[in-house]
Amino acid sequence: MRIGYGEDSHRLVAGRPLLVGGVAIEGSPVGSEAHSDGDVLLHALADALLSAFALGDIGRIFPPDDPKHRDIAGQEIVRTVLARVRRVAGRLTVHNVAAVVTLDEPKLGPKREGIERRIGSLLALEPGRVGVTFKTSEGAAPGLIQARVTVLLNTD
Ligand code: C5P
Ligand code: MG
Repeated sequence: MRIGYGEDSHRLVAGRPLLVGGVAIEGSPVGSEAHSDGDVLLHALADALLSAFALGDIGRIFPPDDPKHRDIAGQEIVRTVLARVRRVAGRLTVHNVAAVVTLDEPKLGPKREGIERRIGSLLALEPGRVGVTFKTSEGAAPGLIQARVTVLLNTD
């Protein structure tokens, strides 16, 4: 049995899309400032998967200063990381994912089901095995989106 944990944050700026767990948050006045797609939830998930096997973090696989990775999709990062973990660890069973996204605005509650489903499909998990909760920073970090992700898995 292994546990993985990952975090990510991005500044929020006007005129960028806001992607959370591979889901576009339509109508958001702000989005992540990033060279990638700025999807903090998928980046934290990818780091969580790597950390479970002490494989470093996504900055090692996708150096942020490498133009090749400009605007790379979070879903592609997760797929690449999964393939790498499987090469090292062999057959992998992911049991569940528990995540927190901290963001003042917009409200993400209405998107929860879609986000959980998207992460579930990336990891081939049945419904009910991905739980995502949302918190505000209570106004302490209005210009920031943050994600924290734990994942429980084992190799057989
Ligand atoms: O941070 P706080 O406890 O005030 O958040 C109250 C509720 O608002 C959360 O439990 C969550 O359901 C919701 N929320 C949300 N989208 C956010 C932040 C919070 O739906 N961006
Ligand atoms: Mg990131």
